[in-house]
Amino acid sequence: MKQIPMLDLKREYEYMKKDIDDAIKQCLEHQKWILGPEVKELENKIAGYLGVKHCIGSSSGTESLVLSLRALAIKIKGQEFFDNNDEILTTSFTFTATGDAVLRSGAMPVFLDIDPETYNIDTNKIKEYLEQSPKARVVGILPVHLYGQACNMEEIMKIAGKYNLFVVEDVAQAFGGMWKDKKLGSIGNTGAFSFFPSKNLGGFGDGGVVSTDDDKIAELARMLLKHGGRDKYNVDHIGYNARIDTLQAAIVLSKLKYIDEFNDKRRKIADIYTQGLKNVEGIVLSKSLPEAYHVQHQYTIRILDNKRDELQVKLKDQGISSMVYYPYPLHKMKVFGNGRSKIYGSLENAEIATQSVLSLPMEPLQSYDETSYVIDCIKAFFVK
Ligand SMILES: Cc1ncc(COP(=O)(O)O)c(C=O)c1O
Repeated sequence: MKQIPMLDLKREYEYMKKDIDDAIKQCLEHQKWILGPEVKELENKIAGYLGVKHCIGSSSGTESLVLSLRALAIKIKGQEFFDNNDEILTTSFTFTATGDAVLRSGAMPVFLDIDPETYNIDTNKIKEYLEQSPKARVVGILPVHLYGQACNMEEIMKIAGKYNLFVVEDVAQAFGGMWKDKKLGSIGNTGAFSFFPSKNLGGFGDGGVVSTDDDKIAELARMLLKHGGRDKYNVDHIGYNARIDTLQAAIVLSKLKYIDEFNDKRRKIADIYTQGLKNVEGIVLSKSLPEAYHVQHQYTIRILDNKRDELQVKLKDQGISSMVYYPYPLHKMKVFGNGRSKIYGSLENAEIATQSVLSLPMEPLQSYDETSYVIDCIKAFFVK
């Protein structure tokens, strides 16, 4: 029986083996494991790729979010953390780390509903909340470019400008994605990227980067990730040890060469899925916005009539992996309870999504036949 994994990192390693082996060998030779030359090189290359002034390597996507928010708190409020009545508007349909980073920055996450067709934050809800809650002390917006597709950044930046809010983009799933001609992570005050191995630009462990055009934020983020000071032995702020390892930087650097090719391959696989599944009754495809260059970190469909779990089991029996990103909305998690977060209105679309979405195998090196096999098995499930 065919085996189709969600992702095949071994296959990708074989594809770029020489680059990666050479990069690791170079590290073994120079032995500069902390903030070695590959870290600066990676920061400069990504800054150039995104078209931003600064990139700061970090130990994960989560830390990139925390560093962004803490740097903003210090810059805007002149204090180490936000207060818990400083509100940050974000989506409930994301990975836990998005909301968790808001808590760790001291602020109050306000969870808003999503657009049911793109799964990204509903910008109308952002507007409504700001109009209907004049007493709320909203300080920022944290949009998540889920599954590799941009949120409507034009609209979000317009709202942020009107209400004087900062914007931190969660770009963990969308390296190389764009809104019109702008790379994601170059539009808000900062972008927070993740190099978790399964991300569309992933390392061989944890890592991430903060992108920004703001000199002050860049300087603060750099201080915070190295214990909080310019001088490690005499610090100014409550900091972290959140550096990216030299080895991870070297690996990500060698994979960066392939990112455009791999994003393009993902988009081609997505097109095959879309063509094959578009007329299947019982499935709703995600909407791709014409303004967004969608990098298809995931190809996610919605399964109607509570059949998602049954389909997932059936696919597994046929050797096909699939994943539910995400089975719980953030506002239903204990960590965000006890007055630690707020919700606005009904989060019905987020809740429906948690019960109906299914992400299909999306390996850039997946063959046409493998993708067709997944399509055929899904079709066979619905045609009974
Ligand atoms: C949307 C989103 N935000 C944040 C993160 C956190 O990134 P990391 O796992 O590198 O900490 C992830 C991925 O894990 C993510 O998918």
